[in-house]
Amino acid sequence: MDILQTILHRRSIRRFDTRQIEEETLQKILQAGLYAPSAGGRQGVIFAVSQNREVNERLGKIKRANSYFRMSTATRYVSREQPSIVDDAKLTNAFYDAPTVITLFAPKDFLFAAEDCAVAAENMMLAADALGVGSCYIGQGWTAFAAPYGQDILRQWGIRTDYYAVMQLLLGYPRPGDAHPQAKPRNNARVLRF
Ligand SMILES: Cc1cc2nc3c(=O)[nH]c(=O)nc-3n(C[C@H](O)[C@H](O)[C@H](O)COP(=O)(O)O)c2cc1C
Repeated sequence: MDILQTILHRRSIRRFDTRQIEEETLQKILQAGLYAPSAGGRQGVIFAVSQNREVNERLGKIKRANSYFRMSTATRYVSREQPSIVDDAKLTNAFYDAPTVITLFAPKDFLFAAEDCAVAAENMMLAADALGVGSCYIGQGWTAFAAPYGQDILRQWGIRTDYYAVMQLLLGYPRPGDAHPQAKPRNNARVLRF
């Protein structure tokens, strides 16, 4: 698909099929992340891929329990078609049962840690969309590792203690039968021309 079409087509997917994504597809998405720009060309981002459903579910539940937000209202909501945890109090897993969860880690003392992860994530989300895979950006990645279980996982994964989890990228196929979500109308007045 043309890149400009892909940019317009990509939407956050939170309702996933149970089917795992193919290894070849995952590799292409990871390559898109590895080729993202990085501040100073430092390539500091670590991509920790978990396809372990039990681990993903437990971390997603810890994250949900450690997320503080205002629930959606009738007029202010994230998505009706692909509800987020602020839209539906019944959702107990902040990773929405996605079969693949990639946590992006970056050095704690690096000024551009968050930006490096965000640009890598956008590259991966666009690659995913072009490959027919649904994705969702999950902010405040560190909250998934708040409980002792999360700390154990960090040790198991061998994550350096001077790195932190900036965000998670969820990947999986959209649920069969779900319509592709519509983009909310754009506020073009945000563009200032001089
Ligand atoms: C920095 C950032 C943090 C986000 N965090 C979450 C999150 O924690 N949970 C979630 O379900 N979606 C999260 N999203 C996805 C947004 O809700 C989504 O991009 C937005 O509603 C627009 O919808 P679209 O991606 O379909 O265009 C995040 C997006 C960004 C850019």
